[in-house]
Amino acid sequence: MSSQNRQGGNMADNDRFSRRDFFKGMSFIAGGAALGVAAGPGTALGADGQDPVGAEMLDYPVQGLETETSRPITVAVMGAGARGRTYARYAKLFPHAMKIVAVSDINRQRCLAMADTYGVEGNRCYGDFHEMLAAGRIADAMIIALPDNLHCEPAMEAMAQGYDLLLEKPMAQTEQECLNLLKRQRETGAVVGVCHVLRYAPYFRALKAAIDDGLAGEVVSVQHMEPIEYAHMAHSYVRGNWHSAKATTPIILAKSCHDLDIIKWFLGRRCEAVSAEGSLIHFRRENAPQGAPARCTDGCPHEATCPYSAIDIYVRRHKHLYVFDLPKDCPREDLLEKLRTTDYGRCVYKCGNDQCDHYVANLRFEGGVTAAFSMEAFTPWGGRRTRIMGTRGFIEGDGTKFTVYDFRTDRQRVWAKKVSEIAAYKGSGHGGGDLALVRDFLKAVDAHDESLLSSSLAASVESHVMGFACERSRLSGTKVPVQVPA
Ligand SMILES: NC(=O)c1ccc[n+]([C@@H]2O[C@H](COP(=O)([O-])OP(=O)(O)OC[C@H]3O[C@@H](n4cnc5c(N)ncnc54)[C@H](O)[C@@H]3O)[C@@H](O)[C@H]2O)c1
Repeated sequence: MSSQNRQGGNMADNDRFSRRDFFKGMSFIAGGAALGVAAGPGTALGADGQDPVGAEMLDYPVQGLETETSRPITVAVMGAGARGRTYARYAKLFPHAMKIVAVSDINRQRCLAMADTYGVEGNRCYGDFHEMLAAGRIADAMIIALPDNLHCEPAMEAMAQGYDLLLEKPMAQTEQECLNLLKRQRETGAVVGVCHVLRYAPYFRALKAAIDDGLAGEVVSVQHMEPIEYAHMAHSYVRGNWHSAKATTPIILAKSCHDLDIIKWFLGRRCEAVSAEGSLIHFRRENAPQGAPARCTDGCPHEATCPYSAIDIYVRRHKHLYVFDLPKDCPREDLLEKLRTTDYGRCVYKCGNDQCDHYVANLRFEGGVTAAFSMEAFTPWGGRRTRIMGTRGFIEGDGTKFTVYDFRTDRQRVWAKKVSEIAAYKGSGHGGGDLALVRDFLKAVDAHDESLLSSSLAASVESHVMGFACERSRLSGTKVPVQVPA
């Protein structure tokens, strides 16, 4: 059965990720049985999040993480922070496919630690990224994992030098810069993958394949929610690196450009217009409880009851500790000292932050297909929740498993591969998408073929433009057309 996407959508997206892709080329981990196994009334997955015991299983296999390249692709890493380290790990797992040969970070400790882990020579450890660029092209490819305001400049220069790029999102801070990047990419022919990691996660690939295989018929509308989780919101978008929309990008790009991208990818259609609302309601100075000091460590009288207590989040629950560059078993006192001296110990009501804590957007696609997106700070869990409404069926997913309901037959089928239990995928964040992205990027660089990448620069520019349009809509209170120059 041919799906709406294959008939009417963006073929560049659709062709690459049909179900056939699961069976092509690489090694597969065939977890679970083929279609049609098991019986009984499917319990399906519901709001209770229970395992789909007794449901009929849907088999879209999980592609392995390993790839074969003609040689180890040499890579220069800009930014040895959380993301740089995440992607670099592929070189440890599969050294025959990837070799780190240079690293740049203004944080000397991080730079040296990465150099040490990957055997990078001393003269290839750089401080500021400009120093690395001044060395000319010293690798096949570059990973740009710097802060949001430092993506566009090095990417423009690196493409001019002949690098292929793995570029963190958001690719730039303005729509014009995104278009400049696309122009430079077309001029140079660089292979550029943008780090829309969800597109590579087995769950999202299976969901995309189910849509493209027409299991819900023609898709008419989508509901998609990004629950940020209350402590993650406080960590990243109130206290942390992305607390200022101006210094980084508005949260619809900084956090949710993945979601706009995945919605567009599911539908395989051009977005025509958006209409958005949202604001910062809670994390404001006027909402600070009586007597709250500047830091949670300053003897705050509300520490024992505040859900955002830094002492509770970092010291008791040990969340997000990677930002502190401390050993895993560090003494409690070292953590408390970080809370006394860094922004991560500040009262969430006194952080000078401006990112929205809730954001909704209505998106209209070609053919009148619609999507309703919702980003929410105040949830107990993170991840994604998606509902696909089709003419013959309905798909509902919680970020790890999804159920397909068929209207005519009442048949319910569930995809529920436990990616986290597959050895190679252990530690690959975003549902396995982080390292699967590196796999496809290396393959594309080796073959010099951008079509091997799902999140090419051109595909990603479109969803970034949607994000900038959402922000214009939110600020102006109007519906905003989405226009991506050909
Ligand atoms: N794709 C995703 O899912 C995803 C997830 C989280 C973050 N991100 C994005 O990845 C990027 C990096 O995020 P992160 O969490 O790794 O941040 P990070 O702060 O952990 O890492 C950034 C590193 O860049 C270094 N740096 C800063 N200025 C520099 C300069 N001038 N020259 C050289 N090094 C410099 C910092 O010292 C730091 O180590 C951000 O743009 C972020 O939005 C993407």
